[in-house]
Amino acid sequence: MGFRNLSLYLFKGLLGTAVLAVGLWLLASLLQDTFDGVDAGRYAWQRQLRDRLSLKEGEPVPGLIWLRLMTVLLIWLAFGVMVVGLWGYSATFGSLIREGITEGFQLGPVRIIPINWVIGIVVFSVLVTLVRWIRNEVLPEWVGKSRIERGAQEAIVTISGYVGIIIAAIVGLATLGNAQAAGDAEAGKAKSATCAACHGPDGNSVAPNFPKLAGQHAGYITKQLAEYKSGERSNATMNGLAATLSEQDMADLAAFYAAQEVKIGQAAEDKVALGESLYRAGNPASGVAACAACHGPTGIGNPMANFPSLSGQHAEYTATQLKYFRSGERANDAGAMMRGVAGKMTDPEIEAVSQYIQGLH
Ligand code: HEC
Ligand code: HEC
Repeated sequence: MGFRNLSLYLFKGLLGTAVLAVGLWLLASLLQDTFDGVDAGRYAWQRQLRDRLSLKEGEPVPGLIWLRLMTVLLIWLAFGVMVVGLWGYSATFGSLIREGITEGFQLGPVRIIPINWVIGIVVFSVLVTLVRWIRNEVLPEWVGKSRIERGAQEAIVTISGYVGIIIAAIVGLATLGNAQAAGDAEAGKAKSATCAACHGPDGNSVAPNFPKLAGQHAGYITKQLAEYKSGERSNATMNGLAATLSEQDMADLAAFYAAQEVKIGQAAEDKVALGESLYRAGNPASGVAACAACHGPTGIGNPMANFPSLSGQHAEYTATQLKYFRSGERANDAGAMMRGVAGKMTDPEIEAVSQYIQGLH
């Protein structure tokens, strides 16, 4: 870019950052002020709210501390994302952030889904407040009218309070949605009867246009089935079949196929040299990334990151998928990772690397 453009870019970037900082700072102060006000009962509506919750003077509103913490975190996050946006970021970065927030990321064995945490915390705070109101306002009056003796009445109110908090915590945790259906390979085997015609009884398909599923990571299989069902990945046959599967079916089928052993094929001799060099080193001249970086040197992928196993896959299927990624017909790859790679590949490169993968293990 020329100097004129550069200075304009710098000017817009700096000015935008300053405006953003001031705007978010104002928003943060306003929110903190409201929270402080509710805790102190500054305005009439805030005092009324405190009365309703029967809070004593100076007593903080339950759950409010979590809301405070969250707004601070969210505001910082928004600032980070918007500043990067101002200075210009690639589409990949944008969609990675978006998917990171809504679809989450893998942290060891757990999947962290930030948006669910936000909802979970809000639900928890609201429920805790509700429980408090019931415990202090509704219950005493209600039990007071009964003939239960006074000591027992107090016990009922206290215990109900604790039970309420526990329920609030459970409901809050449940909305985190980390609990994924656990797959049962035995049940999966029984359910795979309809799949066997195309994918083979043990997930080693014979026809090269049907993918081998044997040894594929369960997480990747479940993801594909869910996306065939939602239509995010389109294929007439699989869209129809997946529509009939429940989440449990998907988890069972995935567990079954993941436990099978893939039968490795044979690569065409004349394609191996180019295929191997592409797979291991990519094509620095055109910017094709090395497949091994994500799919591993032996093609087993990475279950934590949801990178599928490729080893032994039919060359015909692999080549078709690479072309789908290249044209954007398949666009279910997080952060457009595969579209970025395949978009820069030539037909001969696709043929060669697909042959190499067919014999890779
Ligand atoms: C009529 C043949 C047929 C049947 C039956 C069938 N599939 Fe498929 N399956 C395909 C084809 C073709 C593809 C590749 C489609 C594409 O290009 O997206 C595929 C793709 C898949 C994929 C994605 C694989 C990958 O590596 O991304 C999964 C997972 C899958 N099938 C699971 C199943 C399950 C589970 C069943 C049984 C409920 C089933 N299929 C039944 C033909 C079939
Ligand atoms: C930055 C990481 C990354 C790199 C580099 C990469 N891939 Fe992938 N690949 C992925 C991810 C992630 C998926 C799964 C997409 C999804 O969730 O559907 C995938 C899926 C695939 C699939 C579809 C598998 C199936 O069963 O349908 C093929 C084929 C594939 N990659 C081949 C390649 C080849 C060949 C290269 C090198 C030229 C390569 N990949 C480089 C991340 C990568």
